[in-house]
Amino acid sequence: MKTVMVWCILFGVLLLGIQAFGEDYKLEYACDPDGPPNLLFPFCNTSMSDEERVMDLISRLNINEKIEQLINTAANVSRLGIPAYQWWGEGLHGVADSPSVHFGGSTPTATSFPLPILSAASFNRHLWNRIGQVTSTEGRAIFNQGRSGISYWSPNINIARDPRWGRTQETLGEDPKVSSVYAVHFVKGLQEGDYDHSRPQDVASENPRRLKISACCKHFTAHDLDAWKDYDRNHFDAKVTQQDLEDSYNPSFKSCVKEGQSSGLMCSYNRLNGIPMCADYELLTLTVRNQWGFEGYITSDCDAVALIHDYIYYAPTPEDAVSYVMLAGMDLNCGSTLLVHSLAALERKLIWEGLIDMHLRNLFSVRMRLGMFDGNPSTLPYGSLGPADICTDANQDLALEAARQSLVLLKNEKKALPWKKMHGLKLAVIGPHANASIEMLGNYEGIPCKYVTPLQGFSTVLSKHSPTIIYQPGCSDATCADSHLIPAAEEAAEQADAVVLMVGLSQAQEKEGRDRISLLLPGHQQALVSAVVEAAAGRPVVLVILSGGPVDVSFANEDPRIQGIVWAGYPGQAGGQAVADAVFGLVNPGGRLPQSWYYENYTNIDMSNMNMRPNASTGYPGRTYRFFTGTPLYEFGYGLSYSDFSYTRFAAPQSLMAPPLRHQLCSSDKAVIKSNLYCLDREKGACKDSSLQVTVSVRNHGPLSGDHSVLLYSKPPSSGVDGAPLKQLVSFERVHLESGAEQEVVFKLNPCEDLGTVGHDGIRTVALGVHTLMVGAVHHSLIIEEWSPGYGVESI
Ligand SMILES: *[C@@H]1O[C@H](CO)[C@@H](O)[C@H](O)[C@H]1NC(C)=O
Ligand SMILES: *[C@@H]1O[C@H](CO)[C@@H](O)[C@H](O)[C@H]1NC(C)=O
Ligand SMILES: *[C@@H]1O[C@H](CO)[C@@H](O)[C@H](O)[C@H]1NC(C)=O
Ligand SMILES: *[C@@H]1O[C@H](CO)[C@@H](O)[C@H](O)[C@H]1NC(C)=O
Ligand SMILES: *[C@@H]1O[C@H](CO)[C@@H](O)[C@H](O)[C@H]1NC(C)=O
Repeated sequence: MKTVMVWCILFGVLLLGIQAFGEDYKLEYACDPDGPPNLLFPFCNTSMSDEERVMDLISRLNINEKIEQLINTAANVSRLGIPAYQWWGEGLHGVADSPSVHFGGSTPTATSFPLPILSAASFNRHLWNRIGQVTSTEGRAIFNQGRSGISYWSPNINIARDPRWGRTQETLGEDPKVSSVYAVHFVKGLQEGDYDHSRPQDVASENPRRLKISACCKHFTAHDLDAWKDYDRNHFDAKVTQQDLEDSYNPSFKSCVKEGQSSGLMCSYNRLNGIPMCADYELLTLTVRNQWGFEGYITSDCDAVALIHDYIYYAPTPEDAVSYVMLAGMDLNCGSTLLVHSLAALERKLIWEGLIDMHLRNLFSVRMRLGMFDGNPSTLPYGSLGPADICTDANQDLALEAARQSLVLLKNEKKALPWKKMHGLKLAVIGPHANASIEMLGNYEGIPCKYVTPLQGFSTVLSKHSPTIIYQPGCSDATCADSHLIPAAEEAAEQADAVVLMVGLSQAQEKEGRDRISLLLPGHQQALVSAVVEAAAGRPVVLVILSGGPVDVSFANEDPRIQGIVWAGYPGQAGGQAVADAVFGLVNPGGRLPQSWYYENYTNIDMSNMNMRPNASTGYPGRTYRFFTGTPLYEFGYGLSYSDFSYTRFAAPQSLMAPPLRHQLCSSDKAVIKSNLYCLDREKGACKDSSLQVTVSVRNHGPLSGDHSVLLYSKPPSSGVDGAPLKQLVSFERVHLESGAEQEVVFKLNPCEDLGTVGHDGIRTVALGVHTLMVGAVHHSLIIEEWSPGYGVESI
């Protein structure tokens, strides 16, 4: 397969090659009104419907040209004036270096936001939407210079089931609800343009189906193992129960498609219960397209088609692999298998031309919606975006704001933080990340507008206070393979009034293709921390951790000499500023962990075990806060503040009525009648959105203003569904409160979705009995009763 990949890259280089080395790119486009009139085909006619135009375009292609459109490096069709198109772009946390994105010329950089695992900690859907908007604005600006495509294979909304997964940094953590809400808001930010209409010429309001950037939710589904012991993602067969698939692995994809209206979806490398994901007709076609109403294109992960024959021999020949994926519903092949083997598959009658046409309709519909056949892009919506819209002050402020909102304060012994003494402070900034720059960008990074490293951040914060700042890396990098720099770090700590230790992970420990074996700090880092704390001899020490996945820092949690611990994820270009601001109280941390942190002994669990639920007979403890029966170091949702918040009022109904039995049709269209369970369908009106209202009042008792995210959980009756979660997040809202202020937060819930639990059959039901709603330590009982005529209470 290596050769396949090399071939594919060579092909890409050929297509883009000549331009890639020059300073100036030319944006090529189809349907040029000033071009040769014989190239203005009906598919260029914007008065016709997209459907008609797509059909016209496809009808003009011969079979070879059709096949050339089925791969990510779609070829040009010069006789029709259609330029080549590279589908593969990335915009995970800002526009990223990727096959379609070529930084340089007048667009050398882009704003780099925190990795999603950190942004997730903000629990702020508006922030996620704004990050999507800025990313798409900068993406369009780069596209207008001819230097990128406008389809991104972002976001990554797999749930991070296991803390060892190397791609945890790309995700929103372990909770399906957080992943779902992020998917919806980030995708809308990428695809739908600016909501504030401040640039009327750039609002595609005339045609809401037009896309600013095409988003792609990946990797569908149950994909969260890259390379662990003898397992790798290409060979891994994820054994997943219907129950786990429905309530853990798939919700974010369903939200992405149904509510987020994503125009792209990616099928993953792994098999699911034996079937390679890109060949799974039941999931790709029956579930995603038919049940969820998906209208976009489905791409394979890169070389995920090749592996079906070449690696796992699931298909007897490459042509069979071609037919499996095309019959299953996959439209685009990242790689070259479809280019190389489709003709032979046609000759063997494993596929037919009409099937290719169906996939081309999905592909060209998205290109049509991106405006690629509407003429000169500079005259179209977003056509005026250019270099002046990239790395603007506002965009860079948003990158800083995102990091500031997301930092998680894990420990604050005797409220030692924030540090108040600034004047004349002798500060030691120590550790492999003390002057981190590119390390702050994690993976899928671009070229940032600039960096503010932690060292620079502290210098800025203290600049007016005549500080002395001492810098010692302590290790040459995060791997920290030897200890020879530790004595100098100890010496720095001895000289200082206060010490910030910047430690953690890097792409050398966790990245795509690299899962962790240990949850501990790498190499000699823990020894460095202990030596520095000893040398500081009682002077204030704060530990800041840069990492995507959780780190077992229980030693520091238990050591009273380490007064503060802050998790800063991979915070993006402005991360060092955010960290310094937090330590000195210029920002009050309000982030909460999007993933549970575990002790090292969690690594005794077999990472290949996909079960979310515990199993008492094997001692398997289950996964994530929803099911884990053990004790985590810090649970999902944990995070401190410099202020104190409390919930002064909690108002919700005491009881709700389940509807009469004749209304019970399940979303999977299977009628279910069980003695104490009701299977409900939100679309059938039996159970509507917002029919359960919960009001929570939050008060800031502390001395400082600050943000607080209210996390609302539900818990089903103990005698409900077998395998019900311990609790599950149903909604969240972030509020800003001045010291002494109070605010009401209103949650509008859908009882079927939010109080429902999924059974072994994969069907969501609402159990009769006492449900519990929870925020913090406040618990509220809500009885769901069987409906009978004459009851005066509200019916769902
Ligand atoms: C474009 O399509 C419209 C609607 O079908 C049609 O009336 C018009 O003549 C077409 N324009 C050209 C230049 O073909
Ligand atoms: C179209 O592609 C062919 C084959 O790769 C190449 O020779 C030709 O120059 C391309 N034409 C344009 C206009 O890019
Ligand atoms: C810190 O990193 C920045 C950016 O890479 C670099 O310019 C600077 O020289 C570094 N400072 C020290 C003291 O090494
Ligand atoms: C793992 O370690 C933690 C902390 O030492 C302990 O509380 C927990 O019981 C251990 N779990 C297992 C399964 O051994
Ligand atoms: C628990 O594990 C045992 C042994 O592997 C298995 O037979 C049983 O089906 C499992 N139970 C559940 C609920 O998964």
